Amino acid sequence: MSRDLNEKFLSEQMQGMRSNIIRELLSFLQQDVISFAGGAPDPKTFPRVENFQEAVEYALTNYEKAFQYGTTEGLPSFRKQIAAFMLRMMSVKLSPENIVVSVGSQESLDVIARLFLDRNSWVAVELPTYIAALQVFNIWKPRYITVPTDKKGMDVHALEKKLRRLYSDGGYLKFVYTIPTGHNPLGSVMPLDRRKHLLELADRYDFYIVEDDPYGFITYDRVPPRLITLDGGDRVIYISTFSKIFAPGFRLGWLAGPEEVVRRVVLAKQGTTLCAPPFNQLVVEYFLRNRWIDSNIDRIREIYSVKRDAMAEAMREYMPSSIDWVEPDAGFFFFTYLPRGLDAMELLYRAIEEVKVAYVPGEGFYADGSGKNTLRLSFSLPTPDTIREGVKRLGMFFEKVIREAGVEVEKEVMRE
Ligand SMILES: Cc1ncc(COP(=O)(O)O)c(C=O)c1O
Repeated sequence: MSRDLNEKFLSEQMQGMRSNIIRELLSFLQQDVISFAGGAPDPKTFPRVENFQEAVEYALTNYEKAFQYGTTEGLPSFRKQIAAFMLRMMSVKLSPENIVVSVGSQESLDVIARLFLDRNSWVAVELPTYIAALQVFNIWKPRYITVPTDKKGMDVHALEKKLRRLYSDGGYLKFVYTIPTGHNPLGSVMPLDRRKHLLELADRYDFYIVEDDPYGFITYDRVPPRLITLDGGDRVIYISTFSKIFAPGFRLGWLAGPEEVVRRVVLAKQGTTLCAPPFNQLVVEYFLRNRWIDSNIDRIREIYSVKRDAMAEAMREYMPSSIDWVEPDAGFFFFTYLPRGLDAMELLYRAIEEVKVAYVPGEGFYADGSGKNTLRLSFSLPTPDTIREGVKRLGMFFEKVIREAGVEVEKEVMRE
């Protein structure tokens, strides 16, 4: 069935909405292209089938609960297990009343936006930040305070300066959205002093911090404590997901925060998904209860750390000296800076055609439309050998491009 859709029927929000470049890319890539584009988990990290069978058995023994509507905040037994998991993993003591189960952390972002944003509300985001968070926030037409980053993530001093100006002009901030541990796309881990500084600013200026933490369990080095666990953590709305430590197809995540926020989140969620699928909740609850997710996390880290190292080595060997990048201590991504003057979006189509390698141009991750010379390379899906081959081809391609561009390009060096 086909019929043209007249734009006049669309809401104002949708008329302005552009497609997420990552989703577009994934849909047209051919088999023979090496893709560093998507950030999907490696299926080798998914739970063991034997464990699944047992967990599904458990869900089926709770037949009615599994197939009936559940409460909007999530099954009490599952929320209890999530609170226990957070205590084990990050030594933070929360009760089930602090937790809402979500349909992936993408739903948490949607609900947070519904709860806090109006047209012209102020939100602070890193430059760059997670593209699909911007997509969700943009629906509400907020104004952004854009915070520069370096290889360690958000420049909190720069945020402080911008806040001083905002508040002296009579404005106020609703929240800072940040991905402190294993940033997407930056790959950075925010050091402890910056975390403390950010919390101190939240207290001084009275705003919330949304701590998005899908990659905080996938670390390759020691990382500082999560924001929610530090002094002032009652200003933090923490969101995470079972997508990277269990399976993204299960569409389960959670939000943790002060009870008052949780109550409002539940109200906002009543108008969206009603509840996350109870069957899925019971299955993951069983995994948590048996600590199978905890034990799988070490295996997952091992799988990705081999790939991360393969990409790190290949980048050092094959990337031209005028290219800089962030080597991640957590997460899936190498964020890469081409010399200024080059446009990663324009070059993408040539890279796919000439060397059969795909990446995500960084531009979409910048709320202010900058970042044209940046790109994100994801190592989560390809094998280590494919990673080496892909980086080699990309290195040769960029070398050629830089040679062609001659003296008009200037290296962008990121601060350590
Ligand atoms: C920073 C960040 N936030 C949120 C999500 C959404 O994840 P999900 O909805 O699968 O939990 C992702 C997915 O990659 C992400 O990278």
